[in-house]
Amino acid sequence: MGQPFRNPTTLFISKPCTFLFILIICILGFYTLHYPHAAVTSSNSQTSPRFRRNFLSSSTNATVAAYLRALTQHPHLAGTKPSLDTIHYVQAHFTKLGLQTHTAHYNALLSYPLHSSLSAHFSNGSHVDVPLAEPGLSNHGVVPPYHAYSPSGSAHAKVVFVNYGRGEDYRALEELGVNVSGCVVIARRGGDMPRAEVIKKAEKNGALSVLLYAEQDSRYNRGFERGFVMDGVGDPLSPGWGGVDGAERLDMEDPEVLKRFPKIPSMPLSAEAAETILGTLGGAEAPAEWRSGVERVGPGPTVANFTYRGEKKVMKIQNVFAVIKGLEEPDRYVLLGNHRDAWTYGAVDPNSGTAALLDIARRYALLIDSGWNPKRTIILCSWDAEEFGMVGSTEWVEQNLVNLGSKAVAYLNVDCAVQGPGFFFGATPQLDNLILDVTKKVKDPDVEAATVYENLLTTNRIIDIQRLSGVDSDFAPFVQHAGIPSIDIYYGRDFPVYHTAFDSYDWMTNFGDPLFHRHVAVAGIWGLIALHLADDSILPFNFLPYVDELKHYKDVLSRLLDGSVSLDPLTTAIEEFAYAAKEAEDEAQKLIEKESTSEFELLKKRALNDRLMLAERGFLDSDGLEGRKWFKHLVYGPPSDHGIKLFFFPGVADAMNQAKSAGQGQVKIQHEIWRVARAIQRAARSLRGEIY
Ligand SMILES: *[C@@H]1O[C@H](CO)[C@@H](O)[C@H](O)[C@H]1NC(C)=O
Ligand SMILES: *[C@@H]1O[C@H](CO)[C@@H](O)[C@H](O)[C@H]1NC(C)=O
Ligand SMILES: *[C@@H]1O[C@H](CO)[C@@H](O)[C@H](O)[C@H]1NC(C)=O
Ligand SMILES: *[C@@H]1O[C@H](CO)[C@@H](O)[C@H](O)[C@H]1NC(C)=O
Repeated sequence: MGQPFRNPTTLFISKPCTFLFILIICILGFYTLHYPHAAVTSSNSQTSPRFRRNFLSSSTNATVAAYLRALTQHPHLAGTKPSLDTIHYVQAHFTKLGLQTHTAHYNALLSYPLHSSLSAHFSNGSHVDVPLAEPGLSNHGVVPPYHAYSPSGSAHAKVVFVNYGRGEDYRALEELGVNVSGCVVIARRGGDMPRAEVIKKAEKNGALSVLLYAEQDSRYNRGFERGFVMDGVGDPLSPGWGGVDGAERLDMEDPEVLKRFPKIPSMPLSAEAAETILGTLGGAEAPAEWRSGVERVGPGPTVANFTYRGEKKVMKIQNVFAVIKGLEEPDRYVLLGNHRDAWTYGAVDPNSGTAALLDIARRYALLIDSGWNPKRTIILCSWDAEEFGMVGSTEWVEQNLVNLGSKAVAYLNVDCAVQGPGFFFGATPQLDNLILDVTKKVKDPDVEAATVYENLLTTNRIIDIQRLSGVDSDFAPFVQHAGIPSIDIYYGRDFPVYHTAFDSYDWMTNFGDPLFHRHVAVAGIWGLIALHLADDSILPFNFLPYVDELKHYKDVLSRLLDGSVSLDPLTTAIEEFAYAAKEAEDEAQKLIEKESTSEFELLKKRALNDRLMLAERGFLDSDGLEGRKWFKHLVYGPPSDHGIKLFFFPGVADAMNQAKSAGQGQVKIQHEIWRVARAIQRAARSLRGEIY
């Protein structure tokens, strides 16, 4: 471009600085008109440390425990009556605290089981009926194990064990001369694959149905891992828009809808039930690295007779919100979100998070009583139907895409807040430093007189920050569709009662968090991060870790691609991004040091904050990923085939995967690299805020 942008107004003003002066006066006039409270800032910036201290000191494990107990009295699957009770419970809690409360409801296609049966027929002529639910379930209202959105159907065929059901597992079977076509496949959970992909791969290999089990220690080996097997995110009948009352709805037979469901029936199995069948297989010997307990993979001689019947129904789901309006910048949103619906009692998943959210609401209400008012708006979000594919959060994000895209500062997700010991987190990298800073201020729940940060350093040495490419919680629509900086935090991982009938309050008090101190720690970290984002005069975003992360991705690619395509576009774009990140950081430091609260300075801060807030949107591409246009983010998103093991640049990952199977395709990889490079450049430009 070279030439600066010329505005016709400049023709009438001889000196550019005069013009600048007039412009500033105009903007200031506009600003005071629209932000009449701006003058209050000065006091707030000094008092916010006090409010943060008060927030931390107002924690109690008793309140969190009481909320969790109330929420987990009954199983509360989305769309059912007990689920409605939890909606009312959360709503009443917010209202009682005097917080502005809203609900948003949608009509979404959910899926429920009607009947299932499985018998195993052995070579000696005997057979057994395989139990398809945890013992003693039927009278407690727990939904029988099933895969949501599985089609109804039956299969009567020889059994094959396919390990995790990955592409490489099928290739290993082929080498052993095992053909799974026409068989019932048993797979174990693992290998980073979403359920939908396991089913899709089995289907592609000609299997008639899939039985999926999770390996467990003997205490929980009668648990069944429920879950959805639909592809993609959100209500399949309203893809890309909110499924509100009277909204357009696709036909059930629409190809766009059908392509999201598997064509073969599937079902979760307990580890115990899987063993009774796997132990009786003949045929080829299992590869050594697969599993010690399975000698042979089949097919057969054991035959499975499997039937599943379910129904898909449009159900009403509801998100609940509490809003604490920002005093100075009501049009900037800091969102804290957790889902409320559960497969069973949901003590870990997700209501440990809900209990923490409700306690944050209680503690924020105390702050409000003591005179606090956030600078920016804080919204506490309680999502519905996450277990069916992030449905509640996705419908809301789709419905409010422009408002969120222009005003959301960050989305802070907590799903299974407490699964056991150890603090874990994921984030878009501009939030890394904020999270670490906050963990330095929160007491560790398990080590006396240490902070969470200190314990993190001693136990982990290297702090492993996950990135948000998965589609396993409500951050997915925020990051991957809307480009909103996000985090996801939790205590413990891989808990044995995941999605089973054993995920109860008793499990939590016996194993997960007997004294509820970990709940308190999560609430402390979560609530404090939000206070900084809502109150700090300059948003606590630092893009330097983002630069390091992008450089690392480029290095990984460079090793994988080995010179077959050019990474130069990426190198140039990352340099630009690094420059912008450094510049933004310097500017932030200068503005933070300047205590001035003149309206001009405030406006400058707001302008920088806007750039910090919006840079992430640059990674979005309006065309989205090829064949999956809902996924707009070109840095973080799931690869369509997890065999590639590349958890960034999903478009590049897909192109590499296709090239692998076609034996060529460098042109396509190169194109996807260009697309990522352009996205990084957009982010860099938006961070710099310059259009010339
Ligand atoms: C038949 O085989 C199954 C599986 O190996 C075994 O559990 C059962 O006891 C056998 N029945 C008879 C009658 O041998
Ligand atoms: C597996 O069996 C099916 C049906 O019998 C056949 O169509 C397919 O070609 C076989 N696959 C391989 C790799 O042999
Ligand atoms: C398979 O199971 C179905 C449903 O339980 C049953 O009707 C059918 O008779 C069974 N078939 C065999 C061969 O056992
Ligand atoms: C809360 O923590 C205290 C101190 O560790 C403990 O005595 C109490 O039992 C805890 N309360 C609950 C409900 O776990």
